[in-house]
Amino acid sequence: MKNIDWANIGFEYMQTDQRYVSNYKDGKWDDGCLTHDANVVINECAGILQYCQECFEGLKAYTTEDGSIVTFRPDLNAERMMDSAARLEMPQFPKERFLAAVDAVVKANAEWVPPYGSGATFYLRPYMFASGPVIGVKPSDEYQFRIFGTPVGPYFKGGVKPLTLCVSDFDRAAPHGTGHIKAGLNYAMSLHAHSVAHGAGYDENMFLDPATRTYVEETGGANFLFITKDNEVVTPKSDSILPSITRRSLVYVAEHYLGLKVTQRPVALAELADFAECGLCGTAAVISPVGKVVDHGKEICFASGMSEMGPITKKLYETLTGIQMGRIEAPEGWIRKIM
Ligand code: PLP
Ligand code: COI
Repeated sequence: MKNIDWANIGFEYMQTDQRYVSNYKDGKWDDGCLTHDANVVINECAGILQYCQECFEGLKAYTTEDGSIVTFRPDLNAERMMDSAARLEMPQFPKERFLAAVDAVVKANAEWVPPYGSGATFYLRPYMFASGPVIGVKPSDEYQFRIFGTPVGPYFKGGVKPLTLCVSDFDRAAPHGTGHIKAGLNYAMSLHAHSVAHGAGYDENMFLDPATRTYVEETGGANFLFITKDNEVVTPKSDSILPSITRRSLVYVAEHYLGLKVTQRPVALAELADFAECGLCGTAAVISPVGKVVDHGKEICFASGMSEMGPITKKLYETLTGIQMGRIEAPEGWIRKIM
């Protein structure tokens, strides 16, 4: 195990020992291998550099209570990446190979996987980009798929302190666009909004539906979860948000572990004040509580307040992380044991 102050690391890149790489050429993927080389060398006219043909994933490896190292539902990351690739006219990286490559990267960097109870986890970043040259606007003929891993702490500094969001004047995704896939271009689009929000002192943006700007979509890197005053879970349904694996898992946990009613439906900005709790959910965010949303000067404060996570959000958080860390029995197929 590396000598790192695990409890105090942030969500930052740290270069680890080995990463996986596979190249696509002449209509097929090569065998792929691990490499110590963290640098990518590509042609100046590569499709990624000119037309942003790229997609990625994010998942974590956890050290469980019994000392095993596991990943959480990596099959869903493999499937979502195949969906992203298809939408971007990229070749799909086969699911079984994706899973084997994740396992290989975790095993090769086992010393970098934070210990149980440290609050840190090992974040894995699979990604694929157009490596072949294109000058006319069209899909490339060549691609590279890679996975690296890096130990990370909490995505939001301050841990479980509730966040303050602002309703963004920018859109994250166009109607019928790419909001539902994990394309790097969605994040490039969000950086200006992100800087504006940070500059004004907010933790994150709340993006609205781009067509009518009346419904809640998501933030730049997580889906929303709301709790009503009657302890019901409500989560926004939209074709332009990313189908979060954390959110889909929490819906199951709420229904089957906690016996809560869950509704997935469009959520209007106008009804936010009626909710008791609000949280952001995602691999990086886990569940981060939101205390307040500011809509052009108008403050919408959730009943759970600004000092701690609301009680239902907390139960969801404890159950989900309990499953991921092996303290609570997982549903069939959710945990993939690596070593
Ligand atoms: N929404 C966006 C825009 C994201 O980038 C992410 C992170 O992956 C999520 C939601 C959460 O998805 P997941 O729970 O699969 O990590
Ligand atoms: C993740 O949660 O894995 C993401 O990709 C979100 C990103 C903002 C770090």
